[in-house]
Amino acid sequence: MAAVIHVVGARPNFMKMAPLIRALRDAPGGFEHLLVHTGQHYDEHLNDAIFRDLELAAPDVHLGSGSGSHAEQTARIMVAFEALVRDRAPQLVVVAGDVNSTLACSIVAAKANVPVAHLEAGLRSGDWAMPEEINRVVTDRLSQLHLTPSADADANLLREGASPQGIVRVGNCMIDSLLRNRERAQRGPALSHFGLRAGNFGLVTLHRPSNVDDPGRLRHFLRVLSDLAARLPLVFPVHPRTRARIAALEISEAALSAAGLQLAPPLGYLDFLQLESAAAIVVTDSGGVQEETTALGVPCLTVRDNTERPITVTHGTNPLVGSDPAPPPVGDQDETIPVELAGVTRFITRSQIRYAQAQGDYARLHTPAGSHLVRIPLSTLEERWAAAGFVRIHRSTLVSLRHVKEVRMEHGRCSVVLDEVELQVSRRHTRELRDRLLRPNRPAE
Ligand code: UD1
Ligand code: UDP
Repeated sequence: MAAVIHVVGARPNFMKMAPLIRALRDAPGGFEHLLVHTGQHYDEHLNDAIFRDLELAAPDVHLGSGSGSHAEQTARIMVAFEALVRDRAPQLVVVAGDVNSTLACSIVAAKANVPVAHLEAGLRSGDWAMPEEINRVVTDRLSQLHLTPSADADANLLREGASPQGIVRVGNCMIDSLLRNRERAQRGPALSHFGLRAGNFGLVTLHRPSNVDDPGRLRHFLRVLSDLAARLPLVFPVHPRTRARIAALEISEAALSAAGLQLAPPLGYLDFLQLESAAAIVVTDSGGVQEETTALGVPCLTVRDNTERPITVTHGTNPLVGSDPAPPPVGDQDETIPVELAGVTRFITRSQIRYAQAQGDYARLHTPAGSHLVRIPLSTLEERWAAAGFVRIHRSTLVSLRHVKEVRMEHGRCSVVLDEVELQVSRRHTRELRDRLLRPNRPAE
């Protein structure tokens, strides 16, 4: 009888599960356990090479599910895993992360009344358009043991009604793998293979369906990356999903590499770590790479509008740059601002803000979708955002000129109209407002 089944299926599962498997294998008395691979990822580059680099033993059972639509893939894994659970009667099933294999096996285990432990539980992007968000939420609902990486994950689970006894903060296992393998990675051949000098190149990974499945968006990213590559050599290990989409665009790889953008097959884990540690900058939409660059202190631009890993943003190495292909107006680079909403960190952009009002030492930021309290004094915002077209109209109010629809002067009293709101301008600030509005460099709409 297998006491514990560990399930892996896709590349990021391997890095997360490796430290846990090692710890259980080395535990006094030993644990009987079975490593089950669903077969979601099967290419040499995404699978075998990563197993070798992590020194993971080959899986005991391979379910051979392969690729397919979400329903096909999830269903195939479920059918095969159900037979295995019936046969082996495990006492615990451990799943990791947020991929389809995670969801499929937790549903099967829960229905067979086998307890589920979820490694990397509690992460939330709040973005239901991401298949991973559905996988995370359902898996967490079905799990008895939530192994979480960070305090925000604990808070998300508690808010959703999970039992505090079932939440165990184990830290970030992906980073455990990084720390274990970092030194070994430094001795590898990747830098010289690509002809790169440490600190003098950028590393790119993109594979989220929302970024690569839309041909217009992908073409735009390739154009932006080619422009950047003219200033800084870029290496882009291309995920198979992305490779297929680039092929469909009929853009020649030779043209991209002539522009300084080197496309490569997905790299082995150690090769990737070496480049990631030595890069001047990383551009990515990968969850794991956001975390690894944060741990390494390497600047990372995340091509997404939200993240389930807010710690990577609040830590300061990892701004979200959004995935909207429309470039911001010249001279008006936008800023991402983390805000707390019902205990969850969300992100708004400065350009969404109509006006800000002082609330003690805090400021309340008003957007069309609601208002958010941030721990920043109004005077600091005034200094920081003056160049972006924010101007004080009252002791306690700062408005964004780009959102001012009308300025009213009646009986010597001045007010500004922003969508449905009309705000009074104090006498003291009327002249300044008038001067700013008459200036030719008022920010473009
Ligand atoms: C999956 C995960 C995603 C994770 C990513 C890590 C889901 C819903 N998505 O996305 O969360 O970030 O893995 O890399 O589980 N393919 C190959 N060879 C392979 C595997 C896939 O060529 O070994 C191709 C197939 O054409 C397949 C496509 O890539 O249809 C997508 O693979 P899939 O596993 O469905 O999703 P990923 O995009 O890899
Ligand atoms: N990675 C790798 N080779 C590559 C790109 C990434 O080994 O060419 C590693 C990376 O170091 C991290 C993991 O893959 O440990 C992240 O997985 P991925 O980006 O596929 O999935 P996500 O984290 O977005 O779910």
